[in-house]
Amino acid sequence: MQTVTAAKQLREVISHWRAENRRVSFVPTMGNLHAGHLALVKQAQQLSDRVVVSIFVNPMQFGEAEDFHDYPHTETEDSRQLQATGTDLLFFPDVTTLYPAGIENTTRVEVPDVSEGLCADFRPGHFTGVATVVARLFNLVQPDIAVFGKKDYQQLAVIRKLARDLCFPIRIEAVETVREADGLAMSSRNQYLDTAQRQQAPGLYQALQQARDALLEGNTDYAAIEKNALKSLEKSGFDPNYVSIREKDTLAIPAVANRSGWVVLAAGQLGKARLIDNIEVDFS
Ligand code: PAF
Repeated sequence: MQTVTAAKQLREVISHWRAENRRVSFVPTMGNLHAGHLALVKQAQQLSDRVVVSIFVNPMQFGEAEDFHDYPHTETEDSRQLQATGTDLLFFPDVTTLYPAGIENTTRVEVPDVSEGLCADFRPGHFTGVATVVARLFNLVQPDIAVFGKKDYQQLAVIRKLARDLCFPIRIEAVETVREADGLAMSSRNQYLDTAQRQQAPGLYQALQQARDALLEGNTDYAAIEKNALKSLEKSGFDPNYVSIREKDTLAIPAVANRSGWVVLAAGQLGKARLIDNIEVDFS
């Protein structure tokens, strides 16, 4: 595995692959890798000849009171895991490579509609930070395929729309959430949980499963299903942000008559950790 930090080096390696007609896939990350990230890398490998992974903790997507300064940096271990998983190129830029004009002065990418509501109500500006960095990374790497996890479901919808609206010729590939044995979705933020909170944390996925089951049983009182899930989160020790039933692709509030692909999304604070998760509901 090669590691590069400069945009010029990145372009050189990739243009070399292009000259050999290699299909290139890309997995953007913020590092502190776990099995969820490695599943993205494995999927990328299946779909292409060369895999590029980036590690960049993007300051633009963190709010002032958020955990940017505490965000775990484990680059040596990340690099070892990426090497072992067969990554071809690690792009590890610094902040001036990603934001040469400075963070405040850089062109921003706003993705309307799907960037509103849900997590955006609790993390203002977050999806503009994500969309801006992902657009820059897409232009630097110019992959054929980019791979993202379904755990960040709203982020995935934002990136799909961004790629469509800005005509990036990149296929966006989504990978299922990887969970611990007790159902907790893997996340770098799980390490903020103390022992007692770690025991409570699977309550998030349990609340989502209950909501999904109620929908599959034919319950159409969506407000009540969301309210019950919020109560269940509170019982598990969470300070809930939201539970919301949405359409899968648009994240629109679903029309009762349109029982196609739905998703239930939830987020809540548990001690220092803000956890998010979701569950798809398939009526077929
Ligand atoms: O999902 C993440 O780790 C980040 O939001 C991403 C997509 C790498 C952008 O910084």
